[in-house]
Amino acid sequence: MKLVIANWKMNPAAEAEAAALAQASDAGNVVMCPPFVFLEAVRGAVTKAKLGAQDLFWAGFTGPYTGEVSATELKNFGVSHVIIGHSERRRHLGETNETVAQKTAAAVAAGLTPIVCVGETGEQKHAGQRENVIAEQITIGLQKLKILNSKFKIFIAYEPIWAVSTSPNAQADTPEETLAVISFIKDLLLKLEYQSPVSFLYGGSVNAANADSFLRHPEIAGALVGGASLQPEEMGKIIEIAAQYE
Ligand code: PGA
Repeated sequence: MKLVIANWKMNPAAEAEAAALAQASDAGNVVMCPPFVFLEAVRGAVTKAKLGAQDLFWAGFTGPYTGEVSATELKNFGVSHVIIGHSERRRHLGETNETVAQKTAAAVAAGLTPIVCVGETGEQKHAGQRENVIAEQITIGLQKLKILNSKFKIFIAYEPIWAVSTSPNAQADTPEETLAVISFIKDLLLKLEYQSPVSFLYGGSVNAANADSFLRHPEIAGALVGGASLQPEEMGKIIEIAAQYE
């Protein structure tokens, strides 16, 4: 079964809607990432899906960090996965590759599975900088993991920013380009002597019509789905497609 990570972003507006949405897409190959305020409602509404968070703070089990939520708090709540370094956080909240490194290390230390997002802007792509940008995101973003020297799983989500459905004129990348990026990242991880298992996700305008074209490839372990994860019918089809594959 391939994985579908539902990134609800800052949706929906109320708890009852969140619970209904969670119930509608409850499946064993889904990780549901609602806003923090709805984690409890989602936990109560699902029996099969795993719980994910959209972010975490990099320091401490508890501590003087107003407005933040720690990896330990998430773990103790029952969260298993956490999205880190989403392009919207990089753009609107100034997250850097260095903060991604700290957050990824905190997640792993607490036993959460990080989903580290990388990807280039349209401008960077057209300027031929895609590989450079991604290499920097990975080299810095994962640098603290090497010293932990233990076996743990992480996901890297390739999400070209221009393909995220809320970008102007967004359309999904092609599976071929995604595979080329994954192969580039694999080579880079070898060069960096990165030891732990890494699985790759694609994100950016995934929908019921294009999900199969990505998920059919063994190199792509799943999809990070934003907009379509808020539409139960669309999401249901994506989940079914993902469940067909090993
Ligand atoms: P999208 O969002 O599926 O709406 O393009 C994906 C994401 O930003 O994680």
